[in-house]
Amino acid sequence: MSFIEIKNLSHAYNEDDHREETIHDLSLSIERGEFVALLGHNGSGKSTLAKLITGILDIQSGQIIADGTDVSKISGEEELFALRRKIGMVFQNPDDQLVATVVEEDIAFGPENLGVEPQEIRRRVRNSLRAVGMLKYARHAPHKLSGGQKQRIAIAGVLAMMPECIIFDEATAMLDPKGRADVMSLISRIHKAGITVVHITHNMNEALAADRVVVINEGRIFLEGTPSYVFSHVDELHSVGLEAPPLTELLHALAAAGYSVPAFSSGVSDTVDVVESLFGK
Ligand SMILES: Nc1ncnc2c1ncn2[C@@H]1O[C@H](COP(=O)(O)OP(=O)(O)O)[C@@H](O)[C@H]1O
Ligand SMILES: [Mg+2]
Repeated sequence: MSFIEIKNLSHAYNEDDHREETIHDLSLSIERGEFVALLGHNGSGKSTLAKLITGILDIQSGQIIADGTDVSKISGEEELFALRRKIGMVFQNPDDQLVATVVEEDIAFGPENLGVEPQEIRRRVRNSLRAVGMLKYARHAPHKLSGGQKQRIAIAGVLAMMPECIIFDEATAMLDPKGRADVMSLISRIHKAGITVVHITHNMNEALAADRVVVINEGRIFLEGTPSYVFSHVDELHSVGLEAPPLTELLHALAAAGYSVPAFSSGVSDTVDVVESLFGK
């Protein structure tokens, strides 16, 4: 069984009006340990899907099984906490996620709520801070840190819950290039440590790091597959308001101009080779 199994899921914010469904009969499986990038233009339903998986929104129609638990049958706070401990979420704005005035207290907050022993909490706080490269900021005030550092603290807070899966909902969108790169390399390390990653992003280069890319449009799966498969479909991506990564867009423009080139750029050096073979050095 997959780690997350979504079957025939539909959701409407206005439950009485099914013409306004945000998610339409969507089915998707996510394997344990997989790194999935979820793409789609603004309003396509990505955050809604993430909130349904983590029990922030109630399931109206269809089914989500997360690690064997039927999310729609969850009743009571305890089962809901168990789900959220298993599947953590990191949001766009780190300021919305930081609760305490000292970094280490912020990270201790989640495990404290779970009733974890104080000694174990201290261990988790240190391990999580070390994992995100912020150990020396343990006693700093979160509001004085950069956006990227704050987001790494928010991620440490989720790691301290020892989740099996983390959903990043545009967690890099508000960051400067350095903060973005730091958080992306952290996401890759989290994936390599065996945690299932769902990365919702607008940045196509970030999606290249994933095992699988899932494009959603108007609440339906539009395209899914490996990054090379999905990003080879440039015209289809354009039709739903998305672009391929810049180097693949370049190849696509060359193909449109009549040149015989690959449909997907696997990296800078390969693309430079292609361009040099056409135009010389
Ligand atoms: N709380 C809400 N109440 C009503 N409509 C909402 C709410 N949240 C999102 N929507 C609508 O649902 C659609 C999908 O939103 P969302 O899941 O946030 O998309 P995405 O994350 O892909 O940008 C949009 O049309 C949005 O306006
Ligand atoms: Mg969103």
